[in-house]
Parts: sequence; structure tokens; C-alpha cells
Amino acid sequence: MTSPLRRPLVAGNWKMNTGVEEALELARQVQAGLPDRPPAEVVLLPPLISLWPLRQLLRGDDRIGLGAQNCYWERSGAFTGEVSAAMLRSLCDYVLVGHSERRQLFGETDDQVRLKLDAVLASGLRPIVAVGETLDQRQAGRTDDVIGAQARAAFQGLEPDLAARCTVAYEPIWAIGTGRSASPEDAAGAADAIRRVIDSLHPALARQIRVLYGGSVSAESAADLFAPEAVDGGLVGGASLRAGEFLAVVGAAAPV
Ligand code: 13P
Repeated sequence: MTSPLRRPLVAGNWKMNTGVEEALELARQVQAGLPDRPPAEVVLLPPLISLWPLRQLLRGDDRIGLGAQNCYWERSGAFTGEVSAAMLRSLCDYVLVGHSERRQLFGETDDQVRLKLDAVLASGLRPIVAVGETLDQRQAGRTDDVIGAQARAAFQGLEPDLAARCTVAYEPIWAIGTGRSASPEDAAGAADAIRRVIDSLHPALARQIRVLYGGSVSAESAADLFAPEAVDGGLVGGASLRAGEFLAVVGAAAPV
């Protein structure tokens, strides 16, 4: 379980699922099932269209935060279809950047992820920076190099007070949506590799910044995956679409 320096975080990435009504219902169920003092910070990342309705629903409930799944780095202008970090400021607290689906399906590069991260920080929001390796990269023994390079691209040259506002999510691509999570040892090893990079850039922050695990986290696997000291909770996809299972994952973030 996470160090006392860091509060665990469990975030539900709903991806491109749920219309507005469904999103409201799912959020209501999560709200109804959460204890008064959850063992982790809980953040929901619904599709963009549901951020405002969920903001209204959850107003006054400090147990559940909201996040966006993506943003654009320019503040405003002729960028059809995009939404800026500045626009998200009144809707949510967190923005996920660098998810592997964005990198792989939409061609986002480390440089673009960094532009987004800078925009999120400039807007006063908190980035969750996702990093992760493909199966080929893992089998070639390159996991630490790949995620280290992604983490370096995100943190290099950041002002320490801005870097301190970041959370990292280690999401091995081969584990996303496959039902086959990393082992707790692999998750912890990757979190350590990410912290070594942060330590080389911001020595004072390496123990403060949260590193989550994501990739087929389920009610069954969560307790083991969250057990290592290096892992500070999870970024949950499929299991976050079922309130009961998501609540069980949140429960697994409790110290043992
Ligand atoms: P799954 O939990 O569905 O594997 O998705 C993980 C993920 O990509 C969260 O961002």
C-alpha cells in the first residue's frame, strides 16, 4: 500500500461509454455506495458531454472528483472538435493525458502529450499522465526504457511546484482491456522505474508523486495490485462501468 506521503487515488476512465443519462445513473450508484470516508480519493472520468451534468450531481460531495479524458493544448481558436484545458477548468479537477489509446489510435506523440500536460497545469488542473509499453517492447526487455522515456518527456524542465501536481498512471498496453493484468511485482517494478526518472529530475518529489496502475484492474485483482508500497491506486477502465465492481476496487485501496 501507498506510502503515508501519498493518498491513494482510484480513477474510473469510462472511455467512450455512457450517454448522459447512463453517466448520471452510474455516478449516482457510485455516490450511493461510497462510504463517508473512502479509503482513496475517487475520480470519475466520463465522456466530455457528461462532465457538466455530473458536476451538478456531485456538487457538495467532496468524496468524488471529476476528470476529463483528454484536452487540446491551445486555449481557444479555430480547432474544430477540440476542447481546451482552459475550458475544462470550471468542469473538473483532473485531466488524463497520454493515454495509450490516444497515443496509438490518434497518433499522439510525447511532445504533444507534453503540450497537453503544460496546458493542464497552466489552467490550474491536475494531470494524470499515462505511460506504458507494448507487448513487443516488454518481451524485448525494454519496459523500463520505454516508460522512462515517456516519463522523462513529461517531467523534464517542469517547475517543481507544477511537477508536484502530477499523477502518473502506469498502464501496460498489453494489459488494457485484455483481462490479463500485470503482476503486482511488475506493477511495482514499473512504478519504481518511473520514480527513478522523477528522482533524477526532481529529487524532492519522487516520493510525493503518485503512481497508479491501470490495465484489467478488477474487483478480484485490485487488492493484490494495490498492495505494493510503490503503487498508489489504480486507473480503472472496464470495471469502472459497473458501480458495484468499481466500489470494490476503491475498497481494495484501503490499507491492510
Ligand atoms: P481496462 O481496466 O478496461 O483494462 O482499461 C484500463 C485503462 O485503459 C484505464 O485508462
